[in-house]
Amino acid sequence: MSARAETDEIPLARPVLGDEEEAAVLEVLRSGQLSLGPRVPAFEAAFAARLGAKHASAVSSGTAGLHLALRAVGVSDGDEVVTSPFSFVASANVCVFERARPVFADIDPVTLNLDPDAAAAAVTDRTTALLPVHIFGYPADIPAFERLGLPIVEDACEALGAVHADGVAVGARGHPAVFGFYANKQLTTGEGGMLTTADPAIKERVDSERNQGRAPDMGWLDHDRLGFNYRLTDVASAIGLAQLERLDGLLADRARVAARYGEALAGIEGLGLPCPDSGGDVRGWFVYVVRIPHGHDRDDVVRALREHGVASKPYLPAIHLMTYYRETFGHREGEFPVCEDVAARSLALPFFPGMTDGQVERVATALARVLAQTP
Ligand SMILES: Cc1ncc(COP(=O)(O)O)c(C=O)c1O
Repeated sequence: MSARAETDEIPLARPVLGDEEEAAVLEVLRSGQLSLGPRVPAFEAAFAARLGAKHASAVSSGTAGLHLALRAVGVSDGDEVVTSPFSFVASANVCVFERARPVFADIDPVTLNLDPDAAAAAVTDRTTALLPVHIFGYPADIPAFERLGLPIVEDACEALGAVHADGVAVGARGHPAVFGFYANKQLTTGEGGMLTTADPAIKERVDSERNQGRAPDMGWLDHDRLGFNYRLTDVASAIGLAQLERLDGLLADRARVAARYGEALAGIEGLGLPCPDSGGDVRGWFVYVVRIPHGHDRDDVVRALREHGVASKPYLPAIHLMTYYRETFGHREGEFPVCEDVAARSLALPFFPGMTDGQVERVATALARVLAQTP
């Protein structure tokens, strides 16, 4: 490793893009068909096949896909959607887009996913859907949510590569499930997303609504339903196809880095590590988030790590305590104690496929020193 690399800040994330992505993009540019072209259905078909899902619809972002999925299962004005407060804000926002209320329930302290018992207790006669999130790529207990007998939309934005205990890939159980392709994700198209479903009627509706409500024959004159522009471009789809080709390697590299972290951080007293795979569930590694021991000021830890050349960030804040959610829905501290404790202590460390063992060591050494020095 060069002297410069020893002192460069280790970033939080770094996508792996190579000659294949470059060639794929050039091919699209030379074809002149930048959108509504053949790469979109090709990417959808390859993605569905990879997961073992029946249908897939490419969309412009994970948020767009979640929005269309909620509409597709019938969520509308005045409905309630039971979901996790420990997620990226988009999974709650999409409920509000449809003037539905996101009803939060607390999370499981081990997996950090929505707790099925807490979710069941939050169901009312206005609940029209459940929106579990596979947080940090760990499979949510979808079979337990299925027993509640309500439509399910799965937020799988962080969970490409995750597999349920019964061997079914996350996103292939048949409920609409949505993946995100932002630059830090397992597979990236810069911005983008994919909705999978077993229901051809949902596929048809999503394909139309992402495209301004146009009919499948692309007739311009009659838009028979309200739609959006949530399309993914051919340029992005071409990048996605190239990324899909290398996905096994990307996932294996992430799992390797996570295993290395597990060893390097094991000796730090009181540090909470991501839960290991359990009962046959397999995580699709997305981020490496630790929980710092109680009694430390996390902002001080972030600052001190930066001085050691290590990027880190609080991840994730509790959604119900964000200003918009406090002001709109009257949330306050103490409602979801597990989520609030985890959110107050969680810290994302640098994590990307090309991370070297040396970089993992540097992060672990820096974190151990910083925790020893910042009470
Ligand atoms: C859990 C979760 N839900 C939803 C989203 C939204 O995805 P996007 O940023 O592609 O709109 C993200 C993305 O970061 C996410 O992590």
